[in-house]
Amino acid sequence: MNFYFISYNFILFTNLFLCDKIIVVKTRYLKFTESDLHTAGELIRAGELVGFPTETVYGLGADALNESAVRKTYVAKGRPSDNPLIVHIFDKSQIYDVASDVSPLAQIVIERVMPAPITVVLPKKPVIKGIVTAGLPSVAIRMPQSDEARRFLRAAATPVSAPSANISGRPSPTTWQRVKEDMDGKIAAVLCGEPCKVGIESTVLDLSRDEPVVLRPGAISAEFLSELLGVEVKVLTDPSSKVNSPGVRYKHYAPNVPMVLELDGDADKLCAFYDARLAEGYKPVLWVQRPMLFGGRRAVGMGANDMEAAANLFETMRMLEARYNYIIASFCWRGGTSFDGPASRGVLDRLMRACGHNII
Ligand code: TXA
Ligand code: MG
Repeated sequence: MNFYFISYNFILFTNLFLCDKIIVVKTRYLKFTESDLHTAGELIRAGELVGFPTETVYGLGADALNESAVRKTYVAKGRPSDNPLIVHIFDKSQIYDVASDVSPLAQIVIERVMPAPITVVLPKKPVIKGIVTAGLPSVAIRMPQSDEARRFLRAAATPVSAPSANISGRPSPTTWQRVKEDMDGKIAAVLCGEPCKVGIESTVLDLSRDEPVVLRPGAISAEFLSELLGVEVKVLTDPSSKVNSPGVRYKHYAPNVPMVLELDGDADKLCAFYDARLAEGYKPVLWVQRPMLFGGRRAVGMGANDMEAAANLFETMRMLEARYNYIIASFCWRGGTSFDGPASRGVLDRLMRACGHNII
């Protein structure tokens, strides 16, 4: 009797249920009120996971200084533990709490670009443990531009480690509803904010070595950074290279239906591929820059330019996989088209990964 009384109170108090050794949590959906922000901050300081919006994608936040909290991130996402996390801050002064060396080039990026959809990789201080950096001697640091993200980070009052808030391998979430789809029952809370305006994850810029290298392309382009820094900023192209962001090795962002990618904007080729899939019994869809070119075939647009394509990318991917069972994407980005802007390389990178480099 006593036992039941205690466990009932325990359940009521913590909202925790133990079933088949998996801890199922009653996830709370919070708003951007002062009291809910306070709750989100308290949950982070208590070692819990909180989903939150940024301008790029929704993040899955944990106290970056609390190893057991950070460990929960890998469990909730099913993420390989050799893929390090980004540490999020709301004030530039926090960079000096977590990085041991801020080079002159890094100072330029920090002063002139941040806050922005960019992450800088710098040598780490011992306060950032190996669980955050997957054992690397460097730490990835990001100060989001989004006001909502910064209000949350201020409420947390500690550096917050956060990967994208999707199940590992799935498209990143750009709305809180998509975070709910992947994380409901696995994390303490989600701060429900605006849809993400940029739509693809931040540019990861490694400044911990002699030469600056973009490890992951995002909305801040290598061309812009080269001009700003007055040195060539290379883009990592060989994922097996030693100068590496471990995350680029994994298959990412994949929809749960077959997907291929075409890179020339060749309407005849796309139509023929579509018709062949239809004849095989699939329900295919064309995901293209100019959907009006494809007659009666089902075609969905990416947006008017690369920035719009980025903003729509992951949401459209999740919408298409729910409605169709074969995605035929086409992205033609060079040659002075409206898709030739700063986010083009990032969009191409995500599409390539989503189709597992299955180019037609
Ligand atoms: O826009 C973003 O960056 C979002 C939002 C939530 O801020 N976050 C995000 O995190 O995309 P995630 O975990 O999905 O991707 C982190 C990337 C991975 O490619 C990882 O390998 C790289 O950053 N990374 C983290 N720490 C690193 C380090 N010390 N050295 C090299 N790459 C690192
Ligand atoms: Mg991710």
